[in-house]
Amino acid sequence: MVKVYTIASGKGGTGKTTLSVNLGTMLAQLGKETYLMDADIGMANVGLSLGLQDAPVTLHEILAGKCNINDAIYKGPAGLKVIPSGISLQGFQQADQDKMRDVMDEIIKRCEFLLIDAPAGISKDGVVPLAVADEVILVVNPELASIVDALKIKILTEVVGGHVLGSIINRVDQEDYEILTKKMERVLGVKVLGIIPEDANVRRASSAKVPIVIKFPTSPASKAIKRIASDLAGMAYKEEAVAGKRGGFIDRLSKALFKKKS
Ligand SMILES: Nc1ncnc2c1ncn2[C@@H]1O[C@H](COP(=O)(O)OP(=O)(O)OP(=O)(O)O)[C@@H](O)[C@H]1O
Ligand SMILES: [Mg+2]
Repeated sequence: MVKVYTIASGKGGTGKTTLSVNLGTMLAQLGKETYLMDADIGMANVGLSLGLQDAPVTLHEILAGKCNINDAIYKGPAGLKVIPSGISLQGFQQADQDKMRDVMDEIIKRCEFLLIDAPAGISKDGVVPLAVADEVILVVNPELASIVDALKIKILTEVVGGHVLGSIINRVDQEDYEILTKKMERVLGVKVLGIIPEDANVRRASSAKVPIVIKFPTSPASKAIKRIASDLAGMAYKEEAVAGKRGGFIDRLSKALFKKKS
């Protein structure tokens, strides 16, 4: 059975694209046929974050009726299939948002998992992914504005007949996870699916245009993302064996060679 997840937030910049790209990569790595679609057609950034910014055909051209959907599917990391949106303003103006649903229906026929990176806010292009998905996942930061906006998206999702699976709390810094989970579940009224810590490697991986789960697989954010992806795939999470407390020889060598001067 195909599962369609829309990754939404309300407030901008909470980590939707980071999570869509990394959860998608992990699901693909777990052997699931996974597609990632950038439904943020106004401010596309899935393509940018995977080095696909020069993709000649994007969701824009598909929505403009100029190209076939097959031409906009690109190979991503670990076998993830990526449908980026374009970054040009002209492309955005020509894209017919009413065709979005047909495009999603077409992709759903081909995969096991479809992840949709939704735009921030409550624009028309943002509402379709909320209604079309089997489950909406809210990405929320532990701050008031983000929580209030996530609540709006939850209500909007229910109004358009969609369903919210739960929330992911991203960019958490030194908080008691248990208390935070309880508070968030009480306020949003949905389960917390996972907590991702603030992790400087997220930005490093993103500048390298490589998902953090591949670039820094054992960093704290990667571990948290892997756990959520395993849950979504219905598979048990296995933490990769780290060779002893001191790390393996290669680890120690690279630490010695690249130790930061302070
Ligand atoms: N766990 C984290 N630790 C540190 N930085 C993070 C983390 N998650 C995301 N970021 C950083 O936060 C910024 C916003 O992330 P991202 O682009 O994924 O958010 P978004 O919700 O897709 O934003 P937009 O609403 O603009 O599409 C990026 O610079 C990203 O590197
Ligand atoms: Mg984004």
